[in-house]
Amino acid sequence: MSKRAFITGITGQDGAYLARFLLDKGYEVFGLLARRSSSTSWRLEYLNVLSHIKLIDGDLTDLAAIIRALRIAKPTEIYNLGAQSFVGSSWDQPILTGQATGIGVTNVLEAIRLTDSSARFYQASTSEMFGLIQETTQSEKTPFYPRSPYGVAKLYGHWMTVNYRESFNMHASSGILFNHESPLRGIEFVTRKVTDGVARIKLGRQKSLMLGNIDAQRDWGFAGDYVEAMWLMLQQDQPDDYVIATGVTTTVRDMCRIAFERVGLDYENYVKIDPRYYRPAEVEVLLGNPAKAKSRLAWSAKTSLKELIEMMVDADLARVSAQ
Ligand code: NAP
Ligand code: GDD
Repeated sequence: MSKRAFITGITGQDGAYLARFLLDKGYEVFGLLARRSSSTSWRLEYLNVLSHIKLIDGDLTDLAAIIRALRIAKPTEIYNLGAQSFVGSSWDQPILTGQATGIGVTNVLEAIRLTDSSARFYQASTSEMFGLIQETTQSEKTPFYPRSPYGVAKLYGHWMTVNYRESFNMHASSGILFNHESPLRGIEFVTRKVTDGVARIKLGRQKSLMLGNIDAQRDWGFAGDYVEAMWLMLQQDQPDDYVIATGVTTTVRDMCRIAFERVGLDYENYVKIDPRYYRPAEVEVLLGNPAKAKSRLAWSAKTSLKELIEMMVDADLARVSAQ
């Protein structure tokens, strides 16, 4: 039987990379399309995926639509990547975030239970669940302490995934992924905001770059590496939870330094602080321990932060030049 995958959030950064990865492995790929008024397929076009997949209309908040989509796709593997994923917005839209990012997970789990509970399920959990960190290095055993409506919603989805695994014997796994970026990252996230800003400053289209807390530290990896870990989790005999990270943490400040150095500039001359970008509650530092993923999945991050940021700056230079 051919392998069939169903991806929610297929128009997002990870959805596009995962679709590309699964097509290359010979999967038939279906995606849930939360139809908006404007085109959301630029990432799928960028990776030459759009014409090779089948999109099915539906929203994560609409259980009936998800059931209908699963009946059409008949997937053997389901990847739940859809979410309101921007932490900053989650204070402005806490209820929508709860519905899409939290209840949406239960909708997908229920839809699987009602259609074919033998399908394997991947939940996009997050290092944001560690929030106010309880251990210097965070592993699968570290207690959670979310610090945003987004983190709280994700923690609910995480525990529902564990609960469906334990209650209904479903092959449901959670990837606790630390930040991962790429040239397909949304412009609102700090790495892409910086690499786009660097390109605009270098090309004379912008004079400075306004940021918030540049002392925050993140464990940043490359999204293209991380989608392989999602797939590996669903190839295991037993479902489980895995931290996916590089094991290296860097300040936003140092990430800026790398980005500006790529074009021969000093970040200190361009980066300005705007308190409007401070968050009501901050996650100051994240640092993952990917030892379990290494030993059980034989997975480790391949791309360094310098390689990642340089890749993103180069892509933004090309994009801004073409505008
Ligand atoms: P992203 O680029 O923001 O993509 C989110 C996707 O979810 C988009 O396709 C979006 O559709 C879709 N979506 C939003 N609300 C929806 C709804 N109500 N119904 C159906 N689809 C909806 O996020 P990403 O960076 O690829 O991340 C993928 C997943 O991993 C997310 O769940 C995120 O929370 C989680 N995660 C990400 C990271 C990271 O560092 N990237 C780390 C840990 C966990 P539109 O394009 O139409 O808006
Ligand atoms: N977005 C943004 N914009 N962040 C800024 C800025 C700015 O101007 N200035 C400083 N920062 C800081 C934020 O305060 C935060 O500490 C850090 O940069 C990273 O912010 P984001 O890039 O927005 O990512 P995030 O860590 O909040 O969330 C991302 O990673 C999570 C995994 O830990 C998202 O992809 C989440 O969906 C994901 O779960």
